This record gives sequence, C-alpha cells and structure tokens, in this order.
Amino acid sequence: MQVIVGKNPKAVGEMAASLFIAQLLRKPDSVLGLATGSTPLPLYEALVRARQAGALDASRAVTFNLDEYVGLVPEHPQSYCAFMWKHLFADLGFRPEQAHLPNGVAGDLEAECARYDAAIDAAGGIDLQLLGIGHNGHIGFNEPDKAFSHGTRVAELTSSTIEANRRFFASEKEVPRRALTMGVLTIFRARGIVLVVTGAAKADITLAMAEGDITPEVPASVLQLHPNTVLIADEAAAAKLRR
Ligand code: F6R
Repeated sequence: MQVIVGKNPKAVGEMAASLFIAQLLRKPDSVLGLATGSTPLPLYEALVRARQAGALDASRAVTFNLDEYVGLVPEHPQSYCAFMWKHLFADLGFRPEQAHLPNGVAGDLEAECARYDAAIDAAGGIDLQLLGIGHNGHIGFNEPDKAFSHGTRVAELTSSTIEANRRFFASEKEVPRRALTMGVLTIFRARGIVLVVTGAAKADITLAMAEGDITPEVPASVLQLHPNTVLIADEAAAAKLRR
C-alpha cells in the first residue's frame, strides 16, 4: 500500500481527484467504483471544478457505487443515489445509464446482489475504486466480522455505523438497518484502489488498517495485500502511522 499524506481534507481531495482525472485521460471509458460519505466530498468538488475548467471529460465513464440502503427509493433525499447525483453526477453531466447503484428496493434482494456483481463483470471490472473507511474499519458496509465477505450482499449495519449515519436523518429510528454493499472480494478485485481518510478521529483506525494485522475484524486491513492501493490521508488521520 502506497501512502500519501496531504495537509488537510482539501489537499487529500485534490490529490485523489488527480488520480481519477489521470485514469480518465488514460482510459476515457474507465469503470470507476465510487463511495458516498463525508470524506469523498472534497474529491468530488475537485472533479466538478476540473470539469468546469475543461480538464475533465467523464462522458464515457461508467460508475458503480459501493452501496445503497435497503428500503430507500433512489429519489429519497438520503439515498446514496440521490447523494451521488447531488454531489457529482449532475455536475459532471452524467446520463442516467452511466451511473450504477445497487437497488435497495428490489423485490428480491439476493437476486439484486447477483445482478450487480454480474453488471460489474459485464462492464469489464472496476478500473479504479474509491473507498472511505468507517471508524471500525468497515469498507462499503462490510463491518468487522469473522471472515472477509465475497460478492455484493445484504449487510446488517452495526450500532456504531447506525449512530455515525444518524447525522443525515431526522432521528436514529429513520436510519435504515440494512444495506446492499459490494463485498470485500468485489472491492479487492478492482485493478486500482484509492482510499481517502481524513480527521484525527480516524488516526487509530488508519494505523490499524495500514500497519496492523490483516484481519476481517478490520475489513480495510485486507487492502495491505492489494497490489495497487493508494492511501491518501490528511496529516490528522496519518498522525499515528509509523512506517
Ligand atoms: C460509503 C461507504 C462507507 C464510508 C465510510 C466512511 O459509500 O461505503 O464505507 O466510506 O463509512 O464515511 P465518512 O467518509 O462519512 O466518514
């Protein structure tokens, strides 16, 4: 795992954006894996600025998001689909068929998970996957567990993740309890991975993920084995790294 440290979240966003811009210059029809949450926002803002400056053309890109809540229609303001259109897709001029998210209101969720993995495969696999990391080391909604998960699946959210996501909902009761998420193996199969992490509150998990034991108890630790992962952290999140 290559580690790059930026001064602050904006610098992290700009560095991560350059990797995505370079990817699209090399391969305009890249398949990109994307994430929601607070950490990618400076990156998405940088991509939008790049497009406005004429430095980014994503018109041939295809995207697959990591996850979506079960039970929220795409139009729900807290759905990850709505998040992506608000913060990135609309400003990049995306057509609906470019962007893929798991369907959290599918009648048969298991079949939807299989369909999602098949759609990723049919697109040729993910060229560059963006990840954030939860305070407990989760990637996507792959929470600490006894084994690394495989393909896209239905995941139960842990109480700490429900609490962390509560800030986006009127009350804790409204936070969905389940999500569809790419599995750890789905993520691991991406040809390149960019993991962004910012803030002092994530210094301990950044250390555990990058330098600790490789264990499903810290799902992101598996990225130490990935041949092409770049961790971009701000100084606060990287403060405890030793290597
Ligand atoms: C988002 C996702 C999550 C987040 C993680 C960090 O699609 O899959 O794993 O990346 O919870 O979230 P933030 O960036 O809000 O701290």
